[in-house]
Amino acid sequence: MSSRSQQFIMPPWLEAMPRVQLGHWPTPLEHLPRLTKELSGPQLWVKRDDCSGLATGGNKTRKLEFLLADAIEQGADTIVTYGAVQSNHARQTAAACAKLGLECHLLLSQRVDWPHASYNNNGNVLFNNLFGAHTHMLSMDEFEQRQTEILADLAAQNKQIYQIPPGGSNALGALGYAMCLAELEWQTNEMGISLEQIVHASASSATQAGLIFGAGAMKSKVDVLGINVFHPDPATLTTRIEKLLAQMSVQFPDSNAGFDLPININHAYFGEAYGKPTDAGLDAIKMVAELEGLLFDPVYSGKALAALIDQINLGNFSHHENVVLIHTGGAASLSAYVDAF
Ligand SMILES: Cc1ncc(COP(=O)(O)O)c(C=O)c1O
Repeated sequence: MSSRSQQFIMPPWLEAMPRVQLGHWPTPLEHLPRLTKELSGPQLWVKRDDCSGLATGGNKTRKLEFLLADAIEQGADTIVTYGAVQSNHARQTAAACAKLGLECHLLLSQRVDWPHASYNNNGNVLFNNLFGAHTHMLSMDEFEQRQTEILADLAAQNKQIYQIPPGGSNALGALGYAMCLAELEWQTNEMGISLEQIVHASASSATQAGLIFGAGAMKSKVDVLGINVFHPDPATLTTRIEKLLAQMSVQFPDSNAGFDLPININHAYFGEAYGKPTDAGLDAIKMVAELEGLLFDPVYSGKALAALIDQINLGNFSHHENVVLIHTGGAASLSAYVDAF
């Protein structure tokens, strides 16, 4: 960034929201010269949310800053959250709780059919243990009953519980990605480039809802394309984003966010199931590791990367000068997926 660059200032309505500092902001926006040359398309940029500064990074750090501020304000001493066994959200929550001195319970559902030993004991699972989180590995069948029992048990111990939904995806968590959009507007403006197209992995919906809400608040015309990596039926994701946007409008009226922006989702890179690597994703991960020295993961960011590469090859972004890929993290799970490579 040039020496005349100004400091990033958050929009006042967002700055006014209670937030605990967990990450390093703004995350860098980096050019990808070798990938751009290889694909002969628009200029490619990566928003480095994988370098958010907390426990190998990732997109949940932004959400947790708002969610954990709320937890602390409500007097919580114990955080309970949910995810798949290799949830990046769970790992970042475990790290954030360690940093803030909160007890952390992770209820991890065995929903992914990836029958390799490393899946259950390496990657994010290893890190959760290092952060001292209480990990509850639960089969899908027993999940609801065990959840009730665990919550009752904690309540019986007089723990002040604050529950965070899977992926940190509620209206408050989504503010993290309104903040990311504000950073991108500022960064592209400072760098003298146009912010036209964003691509990112989309699952529990708050990353995409937050970006769209942020764009609405900033009157940005950027096109946000979410790559569905979680929902067998992508309509479920659209509905969830619509609901979150509606809730955010009610909860954060000071944002003045009006949106005529569409909810764009591409389902073509989903593959067989959530958590199952695709050939295109694995090829994309290897290609960009060799070309740019970057690490992506097979569950989330690698599928978004495969989408970016394919969409450029199809000519679908040829009307753009610049495309920004938000690197939402996930490389912490690479060692759990060693058998895929
Ligand atoms: C690495 C990574 N990328 C993308 C996502 C998707 O973000 P969201 O759940 O907000 O849609 C997740 C969430 O689980 C993730 O861990």
